Amino acid sequence: MNDLKERIAAELIAVRDRSLAYTAAEDDMLVRQHSPLMSPLVWDLAHVGNYEELWVLRAAAGIEPLRPEIDDIYDAFKTPRKDRPSLPFLGPEEARRYIGGVRGRVLDVLDAIDLDGPSPLHRDGFVFGLVIQHEHQHDETMLATLQLSGQPGLVREGALPPGRNAGSEEVYVPAGSFLMGTDTLAWAYDNERPAYRVDLPAYWIDRLPVGNRAYAAFIEAGGYDDPRWWSTEGWAWRQRGGVTAPLFWTRDGDTWWRTRFGRTEPVPMDEPVQHVSWYEADAYARWAGKRLPTEAEWEKACGWDPAAGRARRYPWGEQDPGPDRANLGHRAAHPAPLGAYPAGASAYGAEQMVGDVWEWTSSWFQPYPGFRAFPYPEYSEVFFGQEYRVLRGGSWAADPAAVRTTFRNWDYPIRRQIFTGFRCARSEPV
Ligand SMILES: [Fe+2]
Repeated sequence: MNDLKERIAAELIAVRDRSLAYTAAEDDMLVRQHSPLMSPLVWDLAHVGNYEELWVLRAAAGIEPLRPEIDDIYDAFKTPRKDRPSLPFLGPEEARRYIGGVRGRVLDVLDAIDLDGPSPLHRDGFVFGLVIQHEHQHDETMLATLQLSGQPGLVREGALPPGRNAGSEEVYVPAGSFLMGTDTLAWAYDNERPAYRVDLPAYWIDRLPVGNRAYAAFIEAGGYDDPRWWSTEGWAWRQRGGVTAPLFWTRDGDTWWRTRFGRTEPVPMDEPVQHVSWYEADAYARWAGKRLPTEAEWEKACGWDPAAGRARRYPWGEQDPGPDRANLGHRAAHPAPLGAYPAGASAYGAEQMVGDVWEWTSSWFQPYPGFRAFPYPEYSEVFFGQEYRVLRGGSWAADPAAVRTTFRNWDYPIRRQIFTGFRCARSEPV
């Protein structure tokens, strides 16, 4: 096997170990729907195997369907999440057996396939990258489900580096053009392509994500009670839901507490805030006299290397993220303290742009000029428009295989069960 095949095989094994660890639970825990926002965990588990069968076995290798009768159950478009508990989905034992059977055949395909072949699905192992990233994304979704379940478990206490206070509050990004998106990253999704030139005026962007201390000050200052800071839709959402703090926060006297995977603990004031909606992020930014960055501002500050005149895969360069550069891959089950990763700084000096929390941007999820759906319109194209806001950077629960400076995530502006925070930006005064 060549190096790429070995790397793919290792990634396939790693992501499956992760999925099985998250679903090593009693059957009842796996088949129950913990929130109408989420699928039963065992649905996610068999869905990743079904997706792998559809793309690697059927589309890339031309193998006959193993269980065609279950395709509809695991088609995310035919079954909205709220309806999934009533589906005749496979039980935990059968789901594990099914995805194991698919995986065995996938490894045979990997062995035999020509990764330099003419098919764009085969080239550079794209189809394997597709299923590896897809499974990691579902693993992160499963973590959000587990957090919503309120059940104890999955609190990994990996050691993260300490925070530090040094440094300016904001970094300056001079006016000029940069290359947004990518033509060269082999496993990038269709929505990250093609690369194109974007010219931006100068701006300031926060060096770090907004922390819990700053966010608590916004609450303290009556931020949730003052419609001046909120968009019209945001204020309506805040009123309707009676929202007064990030999701999973409660107050006892003068102390804020948070519940994290079934445990309640004081809110660590030096961590980035997480579990806030786009509306909350937008309101905070206005209160702070700033705004959310556009997606282009975010990507330039994160990935552009002005000296070299090219984009980096990660903020610091091309090297894989290690434990001293970013909090990725569920090392611990929470964001790292602010300032923990000076070695992970971007060319402009912005820190913690990948890992820790997904960051809301002000942009709608839209195609780049010259976009072409690949390998199917339901991955990205059907979500384009003015319904979803773009999130960037990946959270502590995201895997390095599914994170890069060009990676785009998107969600409804009301969502906050995901591991999401934000940083602010402002235009240079003219
Ligand atoms: Fe999926």
